[in-house]
Amino acid sequence: MFMRTAATFAAVVATSSILSTAAFAQQDETAAHGQVDLGKTTFAQKCSHCHGPNMVNSGTVTPDLRRFPDDQPRFVTTVKQGKNGRMPPWGDILSDDEITALWAYVSSRRAQ
Ligand code: HEC
Repeated sequence: MFMRTAATFAAVVATSSILSTAAFAQQDETAAHGQVDLGKTTFAQKCSHCHGPNMVNSGTVTPDLRRFPDDQPRFVTTVKQGKNGRMPPWGDILSDDEITALWAYVSSRRAQ
């Protein structure tokens, strides 16, 4: 009798922890999609006239951001401070959340 109860209890615990792990994974994915969407909108408003709509760009005048390395600190530094007087600084205009979202969007478009 006791054994059966214990086994049932263990099964319930195991099942519910699987379910809650799945729920967390789902939430993470939803959050990631939200970030990419926000980044995409911000990019369209602030960056696309130089870096190309949806990042499609020949890479001759401005760098092709689909080829930017997987280097978030470098991305954040450039976006905040600008570069070589040609890439404008955005530190006073964009929030850290918007820059993080831009990074999520750039990462989602990275060429393999
Ligand atoms: C006025 C045109 C212009 C706008 C607007 C612009 N950029 Fe740039 N961006 C440039 C140019 C030009 C460079 C190349 C700078 C260099 O290497 O001399 C550059 C370079 C970059 C780089 C590469 C920096 C590196 O470390 O190699 C990143 C990343 C970048 N831009 C992101 C963005 C993002 C994100 C936005 C929107 C918030 C944006 N840019 C808006 C012109 C622009």
